[in-house]
Amino acid sequence: MTPEFILVTPQARPRVALIQLNRPKELNALNLQLMQEVAAALRQLDQDPEVRAIVLAGSERAFAAGADIKQMAGRTAIDMLLIDQFTIWDSIRRTTKPLIAAVSGFALGGGCELAMTCDMIVASETAQFGQPEIRIGTMPGAGGTQRLTRAIGKARAMEMVLTGQSISAAEAAQHGLVNRVVPVGQFLEEAFRLAGSVAQMSPVAARLAKESVNRAFETHLDEGLHFERKNFYLTFASDDQKEGMAAFVEKRPADFKGR
Ligand code: CAA
Repeated sequence: MTPEFILVTPQARPRVALIQLNRPKELNALNLQLMQEVAAALRQLDQDPEVRAIVLAGSERAFAAGADIKQMAGRTAIDMLLIDQFTIWDSIRRTTKPLIAAVSGFALGGGCELAMTCDMIVASETAQFGQPEIRIGTMPGAGGTQRLTRAIGKARAMEMVLTGQSISAAEAAQHGLVNRVVPVGQFLEEAFRLAGSVAQMSPVAARLAKESVNRAFETHLDEGLHFERKNFYLTFASDDQKEGMAAFVEKRPADFKGR
């Protein structure tokens, strides 16, 4: 079925797919259907052997202004429990391919959380990151209190979550929330450039390396080092490792096949 609220381009650039949130009138507010569409598209692209990296973008004005407040406003706690929207978010988190958020304009509430669910963030100079849920009598529910705190530290995360104040792209870069900030006209191209350089690498190694970096947020050092070592050994079971090292020795570019 054709999605209603997103645009999917499997080969936006060679081996790089693009998912674009496309609910412009509502500043890409994340209703349930949009999130289901994003999760379904990611599952499909994750299985596509021609795709090696994925860019998730909004528009120039808004990456996403948060969960859809109008859709949520009248719900009870039990409605929220039964709808179980965070199972969808969990499936997005399980994407095995590198996922890069291209953020311009508002990345608020669930929008900030969605960007932080990605592996890297390229921001335009106009990007604003915030968790304003407290201003509407609630709090972040899609990982904001956890990922923001890990990304920028307790003091700054606490201030953002308790006051609802946003930070600029420059502040986000300074505090390590985003990879880089570029002029607004270039944010998507820069995200493609970053995705393109990842897409040149061995997809097997990229997948195992992504898993290992993510593990650093989930476990203690000894267990993390153990996990890393196993994944490192596993790369030696791939043709790509043989090809990569042979190419180095033969002084030629490697041709990674993803096996
Ligand atoms: N949900 C639903 N609709 C939204 C929305 C949201 N999160 N954000 C914006 N919209 C809608 C507005 O209602 C408006 O629609 P109408 O024209 O039909 O009235 C349209 O998008 C344009 O918005 P504004 O007129 O408000 O545009 P603005 O430029 O004046 O302000 C803004 C932009 C500062 C982003 C403002 O829209 C805003 O504060 N939005 C809400 C931000 C927010 O609180 N996000 C957190 C949501 S809760 C959450 O995300 C929970 C979670 O953790 C999962």
